Amino acid sequence: MGSVNVRPFLSYIFVVVLVFAGMAVIIIPLLGFTERIIGISSLLGGLIVFMVLIMNIFEKYIKPIQSAARVADELVRGNYKARTYVSYFGEAGKLSNSINVLARSLQQITLQEKMQENQMSTVIDNMESGLMLIDEKGYVHMVNRKFLSIFGAEEKDYVGFLYYEVLIQEKIHKAVQEAFLYEDKVKVSFSIPTGLERKSVEAVGAPLFNEKKELKGAVLVFHDITELKRLEEMRKDFVANVSHELKTPITSIKGFAETLLEGAMDDTELRRQFLEIILTESGRLQALVHDLLELSKLEKDELRLEYGNYDVTLLVNDLLPVVRQQAEKKEIEVSVNLPDELVAVIDGERMKQVFINLLNNAVNYTQEHGKVVLTVSSDSNLLKIIVTDTGIGIPEEAQSRIFERFYRVDRARSRNTGGTGLGLAIVKHIIEAHKGSIYLESKVNEGTTFTIKVPLKPE
Ligand SMILES: Nc1ncnc2c1ncn2[C@@H]1O[C@H](COP(=O)(O)OP(=O)(O)OP(=O)(O)O)[C@@H](O)[C@H]1O
Ligand SMILES: [Mg+2]
Repeated sequence: MGSVNVRPFLSYIFVVVLVFAGMAVIIIPLLGFTERIIGISSLLGGLIVFMVLIMNIFEKYIKPIQSAARVADELVRGNYKARTYVSYFGEAGKLSNSINVLARSLQQITLQEKMQENQMSTVIDNMESGLMLIDEKGYVHMVNRKFLSIFGAEEKDYVGFLYYEVLIQEKIHKAVQEAFLYEDKVKVSFSIPTGLERKSVEAVGAPLFNEKKELKGAVLVFHDITELKRLEEMRKDFVANVSHELKTPITSIKGFAETLLEGAMDDTELRRQFLEIILTESGRLQALVHDLLELSKLEKDELRLEYGNYDVTLLVNDLLPVVRQQAEKKEIEVSVNLPDELVAVIDGERMKQVFINLLNNAVNYTQEHGKVVLTVSSDSNLLKIIVTDTGIGIPEEAQSRIFERFYRVDRARSRNTGGTGLGLAIVKHIIEAHKGSIYLESKVNEGTTFTIKVPLKPE
């Protein structure tokens, strides 16, 4: 390093000058005049030689050793950037050189360590699971970002505290204690309140050991399984719903068939009536199975739409007669606003289903003499479909649920219309597969408007 301590150098010179001056004071008075000149010159010569010698020793040994010692000090303090810059010959030079090499490798090692540490903390922070590190005394040493997103609060609210002070869940306490006690992994699940809902969390506690196999703490890994739980619930609901929906028509078919066999078939009028019921109910069964198959097909092939160029106007004109026929029974007026031609790259068959489902709903849930309007337009790169009716409307609390499978606002009324509650679920699937969106506005007893936007062609 730069500055060199010159104090020893000056003190050596001072001592030498003092010695020579003393010698001069003692020797000169004893000499004659001519000898004095010789004496003084020899003393001066000797002084100069000594000075040069001292300077040499200082330059070659003292200075480099001082510098090396200072750098060594810096290294001890952790400053691995320190170097002894001066180059010297001889053994001292070798020393400075070795010190520099040492400093350089230390710097490299710490740099690598830092990089590894950085990588490690990046990985830990970006993990999809929450992480908490506890030492053998139970103090929290580390929590990662996901942990904070599950449990809330900030890092400083956890680190440095005892785990049971900062985590109130008894199940976690038990998991940590068991991990410590049995020195084995423990899995628990619990739920934590977040706002209005609850989060389901699964925690795995595992003990940590050092190289000597001594227990050094525990690591807790947390998985947010709310979504998984929800899917499981949905699956259970779905199975329950399907069974329930199938049960009704089957019970009724079986009941009427039995009554027929028990003698009712001898009565022509009853026979006709019961057979008609059986026919209607088996129609319902058929529709239900058809829709279920359709849904499961959609879920499987979601990404495999059969895109093609379709003129939407033509497509709508194809299906209008069927809708109008149905509407006529209730004297509902169905009007359409269609452009002359509107070509879009869509899955035509599936889009047809969307139109049919929405128009059927509009007709089914509108009283006699009501109105249904279908408007199709395009807006820059979007195909826009609006279906409006003047029907019974959908209460606000039901609006977010009508796209769920089997959800019906008024079960009894919908069943009368032959509805299975799957129509809008299918519609939503198809629209989402087309990367489009669907939303609705509705007022009870005033009417409902469904708006759909779908890209005119896929990306
Ligand atoms: N235009 C509308 N006006 C009022 N209510 C509606 C309308 N469209 C849908 N609904 C409500 O949303 C529910 C779900 O509709 P969805 O089409 O999914 O089933 P569905 O009509 O009962 O049976 P289907 O599967 O045969 O269509 C309906 O039962 C009805 O209560
Ligand atoms: Mg429907």
